[in-house]
Amino acid sequence: MIARPAFVCALAAIVSTLPGVALADLVPERPTEEVPYVRTAPVVVDKMLSLGRVRGSDFLIDLGSGDGRIVITAAKRYGTRGLGVDLDTTLVAQARAAASKAGVADRVAFERRDVFETDLRAATVVTMYLLPEYNLLLRPKLLAELRPGARIVSHDWDMGEWVPDAKVTVPVPDKPVGLRKESTVYLWIVPARVAGRWRADLPREGRTVPVEIDLRQSYQELSGTARIDGRDLPVERGRVNGSQILFRFADGDGSWRFEGQTKGDRIVGRVSEDGGAPRPWRAVRVE
Ligand SMILES: C[S@@+](CC[C@H](N)C(=O)[O-])C[C@H]1O[C@@H](n2cnc3c(N)ncnc32)[C@H](O)[C@@H]1O
Repeated sequence: MIARPAFVCALAAIVSTLPGVALADLVPERPTEEVPYVRTAPVVVDKMLSLGRVRGSDFLIDLGSGDGRIVITAAKRYGTRGLGVDLDTTLVAQARAAASKAGVADRVAFERRDVFETDLRAATVVTMYLLPEYNLLLRPKLLAELRPGARIVSHDWDMGEWVPDAKVTVPVPDKPVGLRKESTVYLWIVPARVAGRWRADLPREGRTVPVEIDLRQSYQELSGTARIDGRDLPVERGRVNGSQILFRFADGDGSWRFEGQTKGDRIVGRVSEDGGAPRPWRAVRVE
């Protein structure tokens, strides 16, 4: 499911022409460039928090937290608990002092830590203002450690071929970097991992019809085949929104539209045939 960053693909094309050289020898495991300290403008902090639908029940981690403004604003405004990590000890101390001054030191923490060595599993929201290469190197970690439905909000840089779920541009007349006096804010919702083979019994005309569904996943996009009554039918309009899964398939006798919630190796939801009344549906993963 996790594809290589574009610069790695370009490298692969070159390496394939070099005898005796393996791609793994050349792919950077660590970033090749340092992220400079640039503050996110308050208007962009506001947009990051609203696009990420940050609430009091969230736990927010800011990767490369600078003076702590994103974590502190979320804590002040919504009561959100949070953690900021930064390599720069002076900035970590500054962020801790700012949290005390803002009266949120009981809800937030700042630590000197490398973003690549930060455990993200507790986060329901991750924010970052890094560099494109960092986003691509962090992408597999974010997908592996964050739970389905967690939100990732990035200032200015995308995630390569992982298409954002939302993207907005904010005018920033006094932006200290770049020629464009605006910032782009991206949102991704971590999709449940549903690739694999699933088995279900579908209600049809008073009987149950067994179906085996082979799902392939590329981030939020789903494709695959459904084997029903000995026929393989393409899975269409498949999508994963956090832990919600949506798809349909059609055979000569009609079309089935599925909606369900995934939980580990189970999906529970509703299926409707030819736009009829939805009926309960469940599936279990078999591979
Ligand atoms: C562009 S600033 C963003 C600061 C803050 N998040 C904001 O939006 O205002 C990036 C921050 O990431 C920190 N940083 C760079 N590389 C890092 C790494 N590998 N681990 C942790 N922090 C890092 C820098 O020290 C800097 O404070």
